[in-house]
Amino acid sequence: MKDFKAKVIWISGASSGIGREMAVQCSKLGAFTILSSRNVEALKEVQKSLPHPENSIVLPLDMVKQNEFPEKVEQALKRFGRIDLLFNNAGLSQRSHLKETSEEVDRLLMEVNYFGTIALTKALLPQLRKQRESHIAVVSSLAGKFGFYERSAYSASKHALHGFFEVLRLEEEENNIQVTLLCPGGIQTNISINAVDGGGSAYGKMSELQAQGMPVEECVKRMIHAIQKNKKEVIIGQGLENLSVKVKTLFPALFYKLLKKRKPQT
Ligand SMILES: NC(=O)c1ccc[n+]([C@@H]2O[C@H](COP(=O)([O-])OP(=O)(O)OC[C@H]3O[C@@H](n4cnc5c(N)ncnc54)[C@H](OP(=O)(O)O)[C@@H]3O)[C@@H](O)[C@H]2O)c1
Repeated sequence: MKDFKAKVIWISGASSGIGREMAVQCSKLGAFTILSSRNVEALKEVQKSLPHPENSIVLPLDMVKQNEFPEKVEQALKRFGRIDLLFNNAGLSQRSHLKETSEEVDRLLMEVNYFGTIALTKALLPQLRKQRESHIAVVSSLAGKFGFYERSAYSASKHALHGFFEVLRLEEEENNIQVTLLCPGGIQTNISINAVDGGGSAYGKMSELQAQGMPVEECVKRMIHAIQKNKKEVIIGQGLENLSVKVKTLFPALFYKLLKKRKPQT
């Protein structure tokens, strides 16, 4: 999707972090936006802060309440008539060793990050197939490319997204539905504060990885560029993060040696 002007963009997880910044940058580019997540007050604040709030609607949605998605799609289409870009961004992270992680937490992360994302996409798919063209962007993670300490369920949920959306890309190419998988490294957002621990309680702390991560404005700029260039998959990171997937592919022994040296709790 080269030009964002007058395009309709549905953003999940728009109340905070990457989704909120995406709403701001899309609005600056002249797009119409649909802002979704659970926290209605925060979504309204985001809407108010946009350069063109009148071109935006708040559509509350919980990624685990997937039976409500067909009705949400109807509401979005009632207002705008089409969706040019679905920005699948809502997500929940984890900070817990797998031996201390309950099955409920394993399942919650899959519900929010994987089943919620694919259910929203499938609810919208009949509409996207009718349109001349459309785009789906999926916010995965470097943890969707390799496992990392204390992210067992999170990493699994992000890996699963790659499998699903690579198949969707193949099967829906004939309907001009483009798919971009976005894999950020550490980004300066509240994701670790909002993450859960092994028992499902709020982790509540800013991780070093996020505190020293890429500014969210830069991350979203790169995401928009990747969508405009119709990239299939991009890594969005700083320094060694950008090389990590190449090193894993070309020099796996070295990769795993380096990975082991990374501290947990980052
Ligand atoms: N920050 C990083 O370092 C980093 C790195 C790699 C990938 N990512 C990915 O980037 C995406 C955005 O995360 P962020 O960094 O911007 O974190 P964030 O500030 O915590 O934002 C997460 C967003 O997801 C929404 N969300 C969480 N659970 C939800 C649910 N059950 N239903 C609906 N919405 C829900 C939240 O909204 P409500 O609370 O209002 O529902 C919020 O808007 C996630 O998919 C994350 O995995 C982040």
